[in-house]
Amino acid sequence: MDKSLLSRTAAAMVARGKGILAADESSATCETRFKSVGVECTEEKRRAYRGLLFTTPGVEQFLSGVILFDETLRQKTDDGMPFADYLAGKGIVPGIKVDRGVHALALCPGEKVTEGLDGLAKRMEEYFKLGARFAKWRAVITIGDAIPSHTCLYANAHALARYAAICQAASIVPIIEPEVLLDGDHSVERCEAASEATLRATYAALAAHNVAFEHTILKASMVVSGKLNARQAGVDEVAERTLRVLKRTVPAAQPGVVFLSGGQSDESATAHLNAMAAAKGLPWPLTFSYSRALQNPALKAWKGQAGNVGAAQKAFFHRARMNALACQGKWKAELEKQAA
Ligand code: 13P
Repeated sequence: MDKSLLSRTAAAMVARGKGILAADESSATCETRFKSVGVECTEEKRRAYRGLLFTTPGVEQFLSGVILFDETLRQKTDDGMPFADYLAGKGIVPGIKVDRGVHALALCPGEKVTEGLDGLAKRMEEYFKLGARFAKWRAVITIGDAIPSHTCLYANAHALARYAAICQAASIVPIIEPEVLLDGDHSVERCEAASEATLRATYAALAAHNVAFEHTILKASMVVSGKLNARQAGVDEVAERTLRVLKRTVPAAQPGVVFLSGGQSDESATAHLNAMAAAKGLPWPLTFSYSRALQNPALKAWKGQAGNVGAAQKAFFHRARMNALACQGKWKAELEKQAA
């Protein structure tokens, strides 16, 4: 285990004014996304799409890292350079999603657990050789009638901790991602309680498995109202509740917190991040690790056509720039300047 490399990687992932692009959609998720814009989901189309994102001119100013899917880590640019080498050459740290998706949690109706621990240490060695310096594992917590259960929180926290320990042993920084889903009609108060319970269970498990907090990055969901709840919390309320939960549960030793967008609109994800990043006196830097909120306009502009690559890159560059401003709390001022 190379502790110095782990420290350098974690610091680079949360470098000021930058964030992480999550481009690690599984082929099944990619199919859903591509279908929405009428694109057939072949391996070559996935390569072309990811390639257009990574080669967007100048985007490295706003990106500290990119999370890749197994297939993408083995793919190359149009010029034949492995994506991982290409990204590293631009100063962007390549990462890899290593979990094998969410599955029904036995005897816990409506709840899920993430799988992928079997053989993970071996896979991690290969990922390191292929250039990955950080990894991601996503746990999913659902809010519903009498859930999340203690069993579900415990099972997912345990898996996250096992994964994180395996990563660190391989000199790869683990992104710890316990996502509390916004699907459902629950109140923002319930989301806050579930988020706090989730993070408490997660950090207890990490400590129990000897994981060094200094060499982890938290990928958190924001505390928002359920998508179908009649009262949608505003930007300031989301920021206040999310920061309260993080301050109560996340050790100051953690080098940084990145957020997922979770199905929020592009603009909401940016506004929420901006409001939180503007807060003073936090023990960790905050930034983005968005998939949909960074990619949606680019995917819509691309539509699978080589002739649309320039327009798609322009859309992606814009979203990356807006979120890079937001992670410094400067996005609102920039909007006001543009409107003046
Ligand atoms: P979204 O930003 O679309 O939620 O994706 C982030 C992610 O990596 C989910 O695991």
